[in-house]
Amino acid sequence: MKAIAIQRYGAPDGLAVVDLPAPGPAAGQVLIAVRAAGVGGVDAVIRSGALAAYGFAEGFVPGGEVAGTVTAVGEGVDASWIGRRVWAFTGTGGGYVEQVAAPVREIVPLPADLSDADAVALGSSGAVAHFALAHAHFAPGERVLVRGAAGSIGIMTVQLAVRAGAAAVAVTTSSAERGDRLRSLGATHVLDRSGASTGAQDAPADYDVVVDVVAGPGLPSFLDLLAPNGRMVAVGIVAGQPPADFGTKLMDAFRKSLSFATFSADTVAAADLRAVRVEQFAAAARGELAAVVHKVLPLEEAALAHRKMDAGEVFGRIVLTP
Ligand SMILES: NC(=O)c1ccc[n+]([C@@H]2O[C@H](COP(=O)([O-])OP(=O)(O)OC[C@H]3O[C@@H](n4cnc5c(N)ncnc54)[C@H](OP(=O)(O)O)[C@@H]3O)[C@@H](O)[C@H]2O)c1
Repeated sequence: MKAIAIQRYGAPDGLAVVDLPAPGPAAGQVLIAVRAAGVGGVDAVIRSGALAAYGFAEGFVPGGEVAGTVTAVGEGVDASWIGRRVWAFTGTGGGYVEQVAAPVREIVPLPADLSDADAVALGSSGAVAHFALAHAHFAPGERVLVRGAAGSIGIMTVQLAVRAGAAAVAVTTSSAERGDRLRSLGATHVLDRSGASTGAQDAPADYDVVVDVVAGPGLPSFLDLLAPNGRMVAVGIVAGQPPADFGTKLMDAFRKSLSFATFSADTVAAADLRAVRVEQFAAAARGELAAVVHKVLPLEEAALAHRKMDAGEVFGRIVLTP
């Protein structure tokens, strides 16, 4: 079968089309004919070589989520899955392929009214957004700031915070056009990447919750935007690690009782992730949640997809179709 592998870490042209043996489903797994593979921010980070210390070898196949149709089941798996459309988490990688074997506990059936592309635009990011807001102890009526809102995690966080009754949902983004798109998804205030207000209406002076996808050198200045008892949850490192001394900001603001936490969906039980995905897929099928697909490209165009990611062109998620 056709697959995309990282043959050279660094630039996107290190991604190549390769021929791999089709997998067979092991016990507890299903085999999926992939119709859509999501291109996640972390795929580009892995491809760049930034995570080399974590032991990614040449030949690694990126891609953490797919949607498609179950074509076979392994031992111990109910055969009634065969023929059903599902979304699947494939792990840190393995999704840029024509066929993939996934554990049955990691698959979620898809409603008829939700496309495969839409499923991979929200399957992973929607759950991260949901549990990041929960990790921040977000409550209705609070003011939320989403830093790095134009990516798929940010887009879902904005929508979920609005649905859950946030008093304000401010976003950071790099262009007025993106700001307008985020407003159409429910954002109430648009900030530039530094956190300064753009547009006519002044944003809140401070926030109860900051969900941060970006980290990097700019992270400490967003701690200044937390209200007393404010909570920041870091979910991504799109701009790299924060400066080593960023925690001193929290100590400077001792009297505000601020909290900083990281969040990874890896710490959430599979059954809990699944329950949220079932609910979110149904909400998206009803039109209550928007899955934002930036572009659908053929699987062979994975390098182009990564160039677009590297260029910061992507609003939402690129989807590859075998
Ligand atoms: N916590 C978890 O469980 C979990 C799960 C999956 C992935 N992740 C992590 O989440 C991140 C990817 O999320 P994503 O796909 O939603 O994000 P993304 O699309 O890669 O980036 C989000 C936005 O951040 C802004 N941005 C990019 N570079 C920036 C910079 N240097 N300074 C400020 N803003 C910048 C861009 O928007 P503008 O140009 O509009 O500013 C971009 O659209 C990765 O770090 C990945 O490891 C975490």
